[in-house]
Amino acid sequence: MPFTTTVITGATSGIGKETAMALAKKGHAVYMLVRDMKKGEELRQEIIADTKSKHVYVVECDLADMESVQNAAGILKSGLMAVNVLINNAGGIFAERRESKDGYEMTFAVNHLSHFLLVNNLLPLLQKGQARIINVSSEAHRMAKPNFNDLQWAKRPYAAWKAYGTAKLFNIYFTRSLALKYGPKGISAFALHPGLVNTGFGTGLTGIGNILMWLARPFMISAESGSKTTIYLATAARIDAKSGKYFKNCHPADPSAKATDELGRNRLWDLSMEMIKPFTDN
Ligand SMILES: NC(=O)c1ccc[n+]([C@@H]2O[C@H](COP(=O)([O-])OP(=O)(O)OC[C@H]3O[C@@H](n4cnc5c(N)ncnc54)[C@H](OP(=O)(O)O)[C@@H]3O)[C@@H](O)[C@H]2O)c1
Repeated sequence: MPFTTTVITGATSGIGKETAMALAKKGHAVYMLVRDMKKGEELRQEIIADTKSKHVYVVECDLADMESVQNAAGILKSGLMAVNVLINNAGGIFAERRESKDGYEMTFAVNHLSHFLLVNNLLPLLQKGQARIINVSSEAHRMAKPNFNDLQWAKRPYAAWKAYGTAKLFNIYFTRSLALKYGPKGISAFALHPGLVNTGFGTGLTGIGNILMWLARPFMISAESGSKTTIYLATAARIDAKSGKYFKNCHPADPSAKATDELGRNRLWDLSMEMIKPFTDN
C-alpha cells in the first residue's frame, strides 16, 4: 500500500507533537516543518524510537520568515511526488505587537500568511496527492475584529486576543476558500478547534492574559486529547463532502456569523495573494 504523506507545521510542541506521533504510528510518512532544527531532530528521534517508523523527516521552516517558507516548500517539491495531508497547525498569541522578518504583524504572519504561502507553493504536490488541508483554528475566532484597512494592527491599539481571534477567523475563511477553489481539483480543506489544551500556547502572555491562562490551566485537556480532531480529519474515510467546514470534537460545528462573511473571505484571499507574490513559485 502506498504511504500517506503528511506535512505538518508546529510539531515540536503540544497538539502538533501528539498529532505527528499518532500519524507516524498509523504509518504516515511525516514531514515536520520546524524553525528549530535541533528541537526537530530530537523529536524525530523520539518519534522513531516510539513508533519504529523509518519515515519521519524534519525540514527547516520559520513561519515568521516568508523566504524560509518558500525554501521549505522548495525542499518538499524537490523530494516528493505528492502530499496527501497538510496540517497547518503552528500558531501562537503574542503579548505585544511584533513584526515578522517581512514586516507583517506576527500573529497574522505565523497563524495565517505563512500557511497561505505554504499552501500556494505546495499546490502541485497537493493536487497530485488529492490532499486534505487541515487548518488548526480556534473558538477564539469569535473574538475577531477584522479590519481590512489595518490587517497589521498598525493604525489601532494592538490587543493580543483580538489579533489572535482575527487570525483564527482567517483560518476559517481560508479553509472555505480552499474548499471552493480547489474542491473541483480534488483538494479538500477543514478547519478545527482542538479544545482548551494544556500546551505551550499562551505562555508568553503577560498581565491579565497570563492570569486568565493560569486560572484556566487546571480545566484544560491534555495535548493528546487536543490532537483528536486533527487526527480524525487526517485519517477518516469519506469526509470530502464536509470539505470547507469547521470541526469541534470530530464533528462539524457552526462557526461565528462573521465566519460566513463572503466579502471578508474574498478580501482576505486577494490581499494575501498580493502579500505572498514575491515568494510564490507556481
Ligand atoms: N492550546 C490551546 O488551548 C489551543 C486552543 C485553540 C487553538 N489552538 C491552536 O493549536 C495550534 C497548536 O498550538 P499548541 O496549543 O500546540 O501550542 P504550542 O505548544 O505553543 O505549539 C506551537 C507550535 O507552533 C510552532 N511555531 C510557533 N511559531 C513558529 C514559527 N515562527 N515558525 C515555525 N513554527 C512555529 C512552535 O514551535 P517551537 O517549538 O519552535 O516554539 C510549536 O511547535 C495553534 O495554531 C493554536 O493557535 C490551541
